[in-house]
Amino acid sequence: MLGSGVTSDVYKATAIPYANGKQPMPSETIAVKHVKDCCRKEFINEIAFQGPMNHPNILKIKGFQMPGQGNDRKEQLLALEYC
Ligand SMILES: Nc1ncnc2c1ncn2[C@@H]1O[C@H](COP(=O)(O)OP(=O)(O)OP(=O)(O)O)[C@@H](O)[C@H]1O
Ligand SMILES: [Mg+2]
Repeated sequence: MLGSGVTSDVYKATAIPYANGKQPMPSETIAVKHVKDCCRKEFINEIAFQGPMNHPNILKIKGFQMPGQGNDRKEQLLALEYC
């Protein structure tokens, strides 16, 4: 675990990209932010406002898992670049 904040626990993880039957991609270290169930609004806002940003001082969101979008996942997860 990397740390905890007001809305989340943050873990270090390794992302293994899908090779798509082609040449394998290198895996990379990322940070996975598990946002508490109570903080739905903060989770949505982080995706909405931070997601489109492209600035060296703003963490890039690499992906997210949104509960209840045609899947049975329950956790609010954000994949961020590891810093
Ligand atoms: N991308 C990252 N890479 C490495 N460590 C991270 C990263 N994001 C967060 N951390 C660690 O996790 C801790 C908590 O993160 P953060 O402050 O983002 O959580 P939060 O307080 O729940 O959310 P927010 O600040 O967005 O309300 C940080 O202090 C830091 O130690
Ligand atoms: Mg914080």
